[in-house]
Amino acid sequence: MDIVESKNQLKKVLDIHRANGKVIGLVPTMGNLHDGHISLVAMAKPQCDIVATSIFVNPLQFGKNEDLSAYPRTLTEDLQRLEQAGCDVVFIPAVSEIYAENLDDETIIHVPGISEGYCGKSRPGHFDGVATVVSKLFHMVSPHKAYFGLKDYQQFLVINKMVRDLAMPIEIIGAPIKREASGLAMSSRNNYLSQTQRSTASVLNRVLEDIKARLIAGDPNFREILDSGTATIDATGMRTDYLAICNADDLTPADPTSQRLVVLAAAFMGATRLIDNIRFTLKEGHKD
Ligand code: PAJ
Repeated sequence: MDIVESKNQLKKVLDIHRANGKVIGLVPTMGNLHDGHISLVAMAKPQCDIVATSIFVNPLQFGKNEDLSAYPRTLTEDLQRLEQAGCDVVFIPAVSEIYAENLDDETIIHVPGISEGYCGKSRPGHFDGVATVVSKLFHMVSPHKAYFGLKDYQQFLVINKMVRDLAMPIEIIGAPIKREASGLAMSSRNNYLSQTQRSTASVLNRVLEDIKARLIAGDPNFREILDSGTATIDATGMRTDYLAICNADDLTPADPTSQRLVVLAAAFMGATRLIDNIRFTLKEGHKD
């Protein structure tokens, strides 16, 4: 496995593979790798000749009061896991390799519409930071394919729109959400939770499954479904940030005629903000 820190070194390594006609896949991450991240590498392996993973805790996507400095960094373990997973190239740039000294002076990519509700509303500037760094990584790696987890569903749609709008010649592939046995979606932020908090937090997944079951059964009372889901989350001591039933392709609010749905949830466990979602299709005429 090649471990590279500079974009020049990265280009050198990848240009050789490109010249040999190899298909390059990119898995962008912020490190502290868990089975969710590794599942992206595992998905990329059979679809690409060369799998590159980036590890970069991107300051531009963190708000002023967020956990940038506390974000868990476990490089030695991450490299071991990537090697075991068969990753070919790891890119671990310093902040100065990606950004000029003054972050406020950077060109920013803003993806309108899709980035503005839900997590975009709760975390102003977050998706500008994500879109900007991902587009930089795309330019530095020039991958044929790039892999993103459906766990961050809004992020997945933001990246898809960016790639479409800017005609980036990259295929974006979404990978299913990896969960703990309790149903809790795996996340680096789960490390901030105690064992008890972790088991409590699995309520998010149970509420999403319950909402899915009610929608599949044809229940049209969206307001009541969402109110009772919110009450169930809040009763555990968590605080719901948002819970929403959306059209899966563009996150517009769903109505009882919608077919392709995603239910999005974000909730605070203490200071830790957790997100989860469930995506499914209702069969036409399911209410008959
Ligand atoms: P990070 O949170 O490290 O996640 C890296 C990738 O792993 C993302 O595509 C995310 O959706 C995916 N992932 C995380 N948990 C997952 C799970 N439980 N199951 C499946 N996939 C999961 O997302 C980011 O980093 C950053 O915003 C990034 C895209 C790297 C830009 O900085």
